[in-house]
Amino acid sequence: MKTVSRIPVGILGATGAVGQKFVLLLSSHPWFEVRELAASERSSGNLYREVVNWKQTTPIPEAIGDLVVKECRPDLDCKIVFSGLDASVAGELETDFASAGYWVFSNAKNHRMGPDIPLVIAELNSEHLDISPQQQKSRGWDGAIVTNANCSAAVLALSIGPLHKSFGLKAVDVVTLQAISGAGYPGVPSWDILGNVVPFISGEEEKIESETQKILGQLDGDRFRPADFAVSAHANRVAVVEGHVECVSVRFTNKASPEEAIQCWQEFRGPAQELNLPTAPKQPVVVFSEPDRPQPRLDVNKFGGMSALVGRVRPCPLFDIKYVVLGHNTIRGAAGASILNAEMVVEKGMFPAGQA
Ligand SMILES: NC(=O)c1ccc[n+]([C@@H]2O[C@H](COP(=O)([O-])OP(=O)(O)OC[C@H]3O[C@@H](n4cnc5c(N)ncnc54)[C@H](OP(=O)(O)O)[C@@H]3O)[C@@H](O)[C@H]2O)c1
Repeated sequence: MKTVSRIPVGILGATGAVGQKFVLLLSSHPWFEVRELAASERSSGNLYREVVNWKQTTPIPEAIGDLVVKECRPDLDCKIVFSGLDASVAGELETDFASAGYWVFSNAKNHRMGPDIPLVIAELNSEHLDISPQQQKSRGWDGAIVTNANCSAAVLALSIGPLHKSFGLKAVDVVTLQAISGAGYPGVPSWDILGNVVPFISGEEEKIESETQKILGQLDGDRFRPADFAVSAHANRVAVVEGHVECVSVRFTNKASPEEAIQCWQEFRGPAQELNLPTAPKQPVVVFSEPDRPQPRLDVNKFGGMSALVGRVRPCPLFDIKYVVLGHNTIRGAAGASILNAEMVVEKGMFPAGQA
């Protein structure tokens, strides 16, 4: 990345849980500068600091707090937008921006499974971005949409991806314990979640199963061929603020022991690491040796919230091995992943240099 001046960017849905993480992560980004904030009519026209219901543990970055929130219309002074929009409006609004020439990095579910839309984890399948010129051509867009995965699918894929590349996967079973921030604010009523586990999150299991297969599949010419291993997901909401825990069992094509899996994770590096992208964690998968770790309260913010934190790797009497993985749902599962994808697009020279 050779430009000296930073690239102006906007945040759609800047007031939400994911939008606030974008604000924090982008406030000191070496390549991107937050120029525009946008949200619903409820928020637009007000200073960000006055209208946002700030739920982060560090203060609102001063310069960003003084920006006026705008409506989500494609007349923003930037050509890259990060979207933390609610799914009820994201489909249409993100399309409006892409057709008006913006590169949209989306966290919403609406476009993820589109046949010409890349669903990217920069360490695993950045080559899927190569479909973007075709997306632009067939839709007549100057801009493009790049999506990142559902928060649970992102954490699962980052942990099983290296295993799939090294040993091949036949089957994956995952039970999630998902934080309340995954549902945005105010999310699940306290009456429902305190002292409780809610064994249902609408649409979540389907997203985990299909998105994981798309991410770990192949871009075959002009279409995506999903990975052919089976994925079975059980999704639960638990009384944790940030950090999704997932209990995973995998069956391999070529058998691997827990020790071989651990070695595979420890050695794994992807293109995001090779290119030394600013948001890339040094080690995408970190393995804990303590028997009772990782834990959300103790570990979720380690490594900038961008690594999959694996522990309790052991043989599985039903499958081959089982383990637990923790990931930060609004960083690795949302804003951080999206920013990493944008860095990859810029580094690959896909975002026109003239617009930087
Ligand atoms: N939370 C997570 O862990 C997570 C992880 C991965 C993906 N996602 C996805 O990311 C997206 C945002 O999630 P979230 O948890 O941040 O939700 P959230 O806290 O409810 O925030 C939603 C944002 O959308 C804006 N919005 C709502 N209606 C709008 C409209 N009609 N026009 C323009 N903006 C509108 C809101 O603005 P106002 O404040 O002005 O209403 C707010 O900024 C969702 O699609 C979600 O599924 C979330």
